[in-house]
Amino acid sequence: MWDPTTYLRYGDERSRPFHDLVARVPADRPRAVVDLGCGPGTLTATLAARWPDARTAGVDSSPEMIDRAAALDAPVDFTVGDVRDWRPTPDVDVVVANAVLQWVPGHEDLLVRWAGALTPGAFLAFQVPGNFAAPSHRALREVARATRWSDTLAPLLREAPVRDAVDYAALLAAAGCAVDAWETTYVHLLPAGADADHPVLTWMEGTALRPVRAALDAAGWADFRTELGVRLAEAYPARQGQVYFPFRRIFVVARTGARAEEKP
Ligand SMILES: C[S@@+](CC[C@H](N)C(=O)[O-])C[C@H]1O[C@@H](n2cnc3c(N)ncnc32)[C@H](O)[C@@H]1O
Repeated sequence: MWDPTTYLRYGDERSRPFHDLVARVPADRPRAVVDLGCGPGTLTATLAARWPDARTAGVDSSPEMIDRAAALDAPVDFTVGDVRDWRPTPDVDVVVANAVLQWVPGHEDLLVRWAGALTPGAFLAFQVPGNFAAPSHRALREVARATRWSDTLAPLLREAPVRDAVDYAALLAAAGCAVDAWETTYVHLLPAGADADHPVLTWMEGTALRPVRAALDAAGWADFRTELGVRLAEAYPARQGQVYFPFRRIFVVARTGARAEEKP
């Protein structure tokens, strides 16, 4: 289950890649804009503000997220749904999928399918985290494997659920798109209180740790959390009251049906 409040705890840091992504979408007057895996909807609302004449929609598989999004009262049609079932209508000129495809196994096939189904000239923009080899995720996997919960947690461990920027670029260029692909490592400076939980732990609780939490009982989760917190404090020590948390992300903006040598 997704918890919008926990997810939004680092809302400023989490929203920056979205803004960096859509800044590279030069759509002028799109007819319809769709935000796939829209989460709590705050960022979808910025799409509606940027393109007020467009019909803007948000789709997410989490009813909790869609409830939160609907409460924004933004001019957006928010619906519960799985991105794997989504099909573009001919008026969709912009598709955004920010920080969602890492949760969708086989999303490479989806990207190719969307690229083929969208009207030529439409933009397909997505961002995925590229931090699965980072100390945070290595620590998560190590604690999960080395503890009494390994049988329960091993099936949940994801070593490499995303491709790198070159792979995505090649995939979408082969599907007939003009592609703009890049990666960025943000260095998030997270406040670290002496008596507070480690901030990388509380960051991960909003995303990567959700499946672990759901799989354990309350006591198991408390123990797991404590053990992971120790590892994270070693990997990301606090300096002058803050933790430096590097976070790599992969971005792609593809324009469908455009010649390969064109820029999106
Ligand atoms: C990390 S959040 C990103 C939310 C939003 N795009 C943002 O940038 O703030 C990931 C979202 O993807 C949604 N999600 C995961 N798998 C999905 C799927 N198969 N179909 C639709 N939504 C999905 C989750 O419910 C969650 O709201």
